[in-house]
Amino acid sequence: MFPTVRMRRYRKTGWMRDLLSDTTLLPKDLIQPFFVIEGSDKSEPIDMMPGVNRISIDILVDKVLEASRLGIKAIALFPSIDADLKSHEAKEAYNEDNLICRAVRAIKANTQDIGVICDVALDPYTDHGHDGIVKTLDMVEDVDNDSTIAKLQMQALALAKAGVDIVAPSDMMDGRIMMMRKHLDAHGFEGVSILSYSMKYASNLYGPFRNAVGSRVSSVGVNKATYQADFRSSINQAFQECKLDVMEGADMLMIKPAGMYLDIISHITSSENIPVFAYQVSGEYAMLKFASQAGAIKWEESLLESLIAIKRAGAIGIFTYAAMDVAMILLKQ
Ligand code: PBG
Repeated sequence: MFPTVRMRRYRKTGWMRDLLSDTTLLPKDLIQPFFVIEGSDKSEPIDMMPGVNRISIDILVDKVLEASRLGIKAIALFPSIDADLKSHEAKEAYNEDNLICRAVRAIKANTQDIGVICDVALDPYTDHGHDGIVKTLDMVEDVDNDSTIAKLQMQALALAKAGVDIVAPSDMMDGRIMMMRKHLDAHGFEGVSILSYSMKYASNLYGPFRNAVGSRVSSVGVNKATYQADFRSSINQAFQECKLDVMEGADMLMIKPAGMYLDIISHITSSENIPVFAYQVSGEYAMLKFASQAGAIKWEESLLESLIAIKRAGAIGIFTYAAMDVAMILLKQ
């Protein structure tokens, strides 16, 4: 008699659990980020992200081919450049022959049917580590919104000329999507998509990334919380950010970080009719990696669980440093 409804009937056997599962994770859901460095045949480990390396362009091309064979549909590129190329105005960001532009050309010349996504933001190229141009007005240091956008437009155009498929502004300046769309279109690049980091929180989880690209902020007067979103803000602010980007012409949106922001992903994906991605950031990767290395959790199982949770929240795809590892795990299942 008691109880009539027994939930455990759903869980009794492996085939029943499989039959009733309705969140899937496939290699095509995953985007693999890469850190690129100068040189050839170079691969250097990143201390805070075991298993992730900074690699030179020749190795990168091989990795992209491998990612494609694994069923991954897009990769994302981040540069780690020499300190002497960094400047206050981030001039190297819009040098049409910079490391990332050369990487894009090399990938496009040697691969087929895999998308290349490039971050648009100045932090890998500024000597102070900020995503934009730092100005001092009335003794107060600030990242100047409008002059930063002018540089971002030039950076996006340089990437478009190199053959990028998707530009992904991660800078959080106001109005940058509209200005970037206009600039790309005016130069004949209406075919380049914009994936906007719409709601990017001023998170504590970007540390390993900043270590990887050498963009730790050195300017004392201003911090990233003046442009990245406050994680105590309500969902309404996330809606507002996303709506603005849609109105300004974004093709796709991104929420970042992912695992601690499932509520935001869920609200946004159920209210906006536009593809929404999520970024499992460097600190999320590091937490899973170091905890599994210490024997506290199992790497493969915990990784899959973290990604399935992000898909279940509604993300159409996920940026994760473990994308190729996951694709291999999925293919052997
Ligand atoms: C640059 C950028 C950052 C990340 C992606 N693009 C760092 C930052 O904003 O300081 C973080 C990604 C990660 O932690 O994995 N604007």
